Amino acid sequence: MELIEKIGSSTDEGPKIWAVSSGKGGVGKTFVSTSLAFTLSKLGHSVIIADLDFSGANVHTALGLRPSHLNIRHYIEGSKSLNELVIPTPFPHLSYVQGYWDTWSPADISSLNTQVLMQDLKKLKADYIIIDTGAGTTEKYLDIFRFADEKILVTSTEPTSIEKTYRFIENFICYSLKDKSTPEAFNSLIKTLRDYRQRILGKPFSFRSYLKESEGFTLEPFLALSRQPVRLVLNSVRSQSLVELGYSMKSVCYKYYDLRIDYVGGLDYDNAVWQSIKNREPVLIAQPFTPLAGQFLAMCKHLIDPEELRAVV
Ligand SMILES: Nc1ncnc2c1ncn2[C@@H]1O[C@H](COP(=O)(O)OP(=O)(O)O)[C@@H](O)[C@H]1O
Ligand SMILES: [Mg+2]
Repeated sequence: MELIEKIGSSTDEGPKIWAVSSGKGGVGKTFVSTSLAFTLSKLGHSVIIADLDFSGANVHTALGLRPSHLNIRHYIEGSKSLNELVIPTPFPHLSYVQGYWDTWSPADISSLNTQVLMQDLKKLKADYIIIDTGAGTTEKYLDIFRFADEKILVTSTEPTSIEKTYRFIENFICYSLKDKSTPEAFNSLIKTLRDYRQRILGKPFSFRSYLKESEGFTLEPFLALSRQPVRLVLNSVRSQSLVELGYSMKSVCYKYYDLRIDYVGGLDYDNAVWQSIKNREPVLIAQPFTPLAGQFLAMCKHLIDPEELRAVV
């Protein structure tokens, strides 16, 4: 437990860890991870992208590179240290850890200890580690998200993605409370949430009042989730009016989950994104003056500690 709190603290020595997740697949996590990494590296920071999408690693493709034989499988199997897996890219200040790609069977990650992984990532020599995860609420991904210094949640503007984003947030809250409560209290919370969803609870559900009133919980871990807020990114925005959707989602989280999240902004839908991936040249490199470059720069400036920002600009 002490280790979890230590890893989760942004005052730690070592690189800042930003994890990029989503409720639904295909909404742009890899595009966002790699573009945040490019933007930070262009600001002069040293950045490592860790491809931890265990079922569909493709950071190498987004970077326009061939997959490397050396990959995270070697770390999981114990034959290489994480440090030995950091591969330079042709882009200044940017390296990456190749994801799990060289097997046809689904990656066996059951032996992976996520806390140790996060601790090992913190030991790497870089200013930032950007973790590209897979979609959904697999426990390993929720763990990575929980331990990261910044928790970036990507959604598209489509209802299917929005629904899964809320589901992810709800799962994330519950998962964060799981080891901070008794098993009986946790099971009772899950049952109450189910009753609420099935409209048989008979009254509005509030995490805050439920946790306050129920035996077996302490409120503090829940309140901490709002202090280190989930950062919502709206990707593939096709019209200006849709940018507002992020603010509505923020209000919904506050109203229904008593959770403060931070909406960090929208990213345009741009055909140049998929065209550049096809041409194996990342869009921020092929088109450095695309409006997307400004949108990513604004996000990075928002997320970088103001002290650090003063040092680089
Ligand atoms: N802002 C955008 N505009 C246009 N296409 C996008 C945008 N973001 C992502 N895409 C495209 O959507 C597809 C899925 O993106 P990807 O980053 O691989 O999603 P994920 O990692 O969530 O599965 C890719 O083909 C990518 O080119
Ligand atoms: Mg991806």
